[in-house]
Amino acid sequence: MGTDRLCPTTKQYSRSSFQFISEKLLLKKGLEDALMGYITGKKKATELAHLIWQRIVQKGDNVVDATCGNGYDTLALLKMVADESGKGRVSGMDIQSCALENTSSLLDESLNANERELVELFHLCHSRMEDVIPEGIFLRLVVFNLGYLPGGDKSDNYSARKDITSFGICM
Ligand SMILES: C[S@@+](CC[C@H](N)C(=O)[O-])C[C@H]1O[C@@H](n2cnc3c(N)ncnc32)[C@H](O)[C@@H]1O
Repeated sequence: MGTDRLCPTTKQYSRSSFQFISEKLLLKKGLEDALMGYITGKKKATELAHLIWQRIVQKGDNVVDATCGNGYDTLALLKMVADESGKGRVSGMDIQSCALENTSSLLDESLNANERELVELFHLCHSRMEDVIPEGIFLRLVVFNLGYLPGGDKSDNYSARKDITSFGICM
């Protein structure tokens, strides 16, 4: 995006950043309907997110799901990177053990043995992702589906400060 980064003083993206996203990812790749569906409430944010990820991620890529939750995003990402070459990998993490259990169960029931091996799950805060992602690995995408675990414990495990730290690590 060149100069179109978060402005440190206003904490806002410049207008040209949004132009870049809309032109390169949405309009030129035919996602207008999905975007309108989200704006009008017909599509969920996750559906739109998955469609955008599909435009970015390629078979054989390494990607990270920084907040596995119930595993739906992890599963969607695995389907985007997995092919017969077996090169694509998803590293998933969550700070709640029940989230990792839910994710693991979903993956076990949805994937064959070869695909399941391509996902590695870590009980970890995403601000420590560098501890588990090997140095020098090119990550095509790191996704954060922020908020509380649907149907889970809403105690104080959520920290916006950690989110910001992790975004910095990914940049
Ligand atoms: C909205 S849910 C994620 C939904 C999930 N991606 C899915 O497809 O079901 C948010 C998750 O982020 C996790 N979380 C919150 N803070 C975290 C952190 N610092 N590091 C890792 N996971 C975190 C929560 O435990 C929760 O499971």
